[in-house]
Amino acid sequence: MSQKRVGILTSGGDCPGLNCTIRAVVSHAILNYDWEVVGIPYATKGLLERQAMSLNLSNLAVHGIDPLISLGGTILGSINRGDTLAQSKEIIAGYRELGLDGLIAIGGDGSLAILHHLAQEGNWQLVGIPKTIDNDVALTEKSIGFDSAVNTITNALHCLIFTAASHDRVMVVEVMGRSAGHLALHSGIAGGADVILIPEIPYSIPAICEKITQLRSQRGRKFAIIVVAEGVKTQEGQPSFYIDSLGQKRLRGIGQYIAEQVDFGSPGSFETRVTVLGHVQRGGLPSAGDRIMAASMGKTAVDLLAKEKYNSMVAWQNGKPTTVALEAVLKASPVLVDPSGYLVQTARSLGTYVGELDSIK
Ligand code: F6P
Repeated sequence: MSQKRVGILTSGGDCPGLNCTIRAVVSHAILNYDWEVVGIPYATKGLLERQAMSLNLSNLAVHGIDPLISLGGTILGSINRGDTLAQSKEIIAGYRELGLDGLIAIGGDGSLAILHHLAQEGNWQLVGIPKTIDNDVALTEKSIGFDSAVNTITNALHCLIFTAASHDRVMVVEVMGRSAGHLALHSGIAGGADVILIPEIPYSIPAICEKITQLRSQRGRKFAIIVVAEGVKTQEGQPSFYIDSLGQKRLRGIGQYIAEQVDFGSPGSFETRVTVLGHVQRGGLPSAGDRIMAASMGKTAVDLLAKEKYNSMVAWQNGKPTTVALEAVLKASPVLVDPSGYLVQTARSLGTYVGELDSIK
């Protein structure tokens, strides 16, 4: 096996599990292939600025302890902006000037699309690993970070249940996910939400109010928990967002909107409060599930470089890692919730309101 100098980077929004993936790549590449591994800080920015940090088993340890297995975020830093293509020539040259023989990129569909494009242009040896709390990357059942974020939201819902019950309140919890409702649906089921609103299924405010009324009259339950995905639209079909100083659209506000509609939809009946979980969902420690998947995916990515299976992505299918073509992944992403899939049916079977399935044509 020839000696290689392999780069690794993390791109897009961070999430728990990135550091365990880095750890797995470094361990397998060094222990089993005797390769050199360098971390590229801040993804394409590091390539642009020709920066690489040496990663090895001893410089990753602190007092003999390997913290990467449980550390949230990414020690390499990340960027979540899609404006890199203007500098593509310089970024492409960075790969060669840093002497890389391969690159493992951990990213969501947006980052992987940009990196795939650069790899094609620059003839890089690229292998992708999917990560995103949104879990919307195609051809993989799970992406790194999703399981941890679902656990964080589920724990938050449990905290809210106690205070909701004490004050007989309707708690509206806005969660991330962009255009996909996976996070809301999974955590809503796991946390026992009464209403789950996702971008894929239309809803009606009177139906939500009726659901809460029913909980009171039929089950004597005076509080309710509503989980709403940030990508849900208003009744008029408008997304809730603001534009930041860089001109980027940031989803936010649908939780407040739903709370107000429920409040005024049944005046004086329901006291509502809103929690926007925000980046708490991306923080915290990686779950055991994410750690195991990160270890397997990291190992598989190194093996793919060794077998020269470039422009591919490690995917998680049937409980184990497999390989798919990056191009096929990018063509089919993002993957949204199937409105008639088993999870929506499960939620409905538990009495949860998940919107008006009948109104989907
Ligand atoms: O794609 C992951 C994600 O966390 C989305 O769920 C969310 O809308 C977005 O990133 C937030 O991005 P940023 O960290 O740039 O605000």
